[in-house]
Amino acid sequence: MGNEEPVTKKFKPLETQRLVLRPITLADGPAIHRYMCDPAVTRWLPDGVMDEAQAQAFARKNAGRAAKAVAVVERASGQLIGHMPFHPWFGPATHEVGWVIAAGHQGRGYATEAARALLDYAFGTLRCHRVIATCQPENAASWRVMEKLGMRREAHFRGALHRPTGEWWDEYFYALLADEHAAAPP
Ligand SMILES: CC(C)(COP(=O)(O)OP(=O)(O)OC[C@H]1O[C@@H](n2cnc3c(N)ncnc32)[C@H](O)[C@@H]1OP(=O)(O)O)[C@@H](O)C(=O)NCCC(=O)NCCS
Repeated sequence: MGNEEPVTKKFKPLETQRLVLRPITLADGPAIHRYMCDPAVTRWLPDGVMDEAQAQAFARKNAGRAAKAVAVVERASGQLIGHMPFHPWFGPATHEVGWVIAAGHQGRGYATEAARALLDYAFGTLRCHRVIATCQPENAASWRVMEKLGMRREAHFRGALHRPTGEWWDEYFYALLADEHAAAPP
């Protein structure tokens, strides 16, 4: 990861039409567990399903100085429906963004809406030069979000990630530069 301060330390809630992005709190563990215990949600997440203790540890880590993700709350219901990895990445003025949405809330444009807000924040407030995102080629919903955001596919790494199961995963690498975002805001 990069060498800058955790973004979420100074992250103020961002409102979109249907969502609020806010720092994760200690109280979010059970809500995070509800979707992170679902193998369909975690199929392409490197750490796989979370049990209750792992979800609580994730909430604790991300509620603190080492935060690397923010919560996604649906405004209409007040429910926490997912989280967005968002943190400095290798190199100056560079961040990584990602997305996880509970199965019952997928397919409504929420990941794209949340990511658009984070891109605006990254380029507008943090003055990032570059934002990157990665996923597996099989995870079409994820790279579709990247393409809807106007991110460019820069690489297809073959057999790049080694899983505890012994599998080697390919990886797509996408990026967006500040001047590209300014020229065509998402
Ligand atoms: C990836 C994920 C966050 C997308 O969330 P979402 O809120 O459903 O995303 P959006 O609705 O904004 O956009 C999803 C797009 O993918 C498309 N899509 C969904 N499933 C697809 C599939 N199997 N094949 C092709 N496209 C698919 C949708 O149609 C939509 O595109 P469209 O607007 O052009 O129709 C969600 O599927 C998820 O949480 N997956 C599990 C966690 C995960 O894998 N995260 C990414 C790790 S890299």
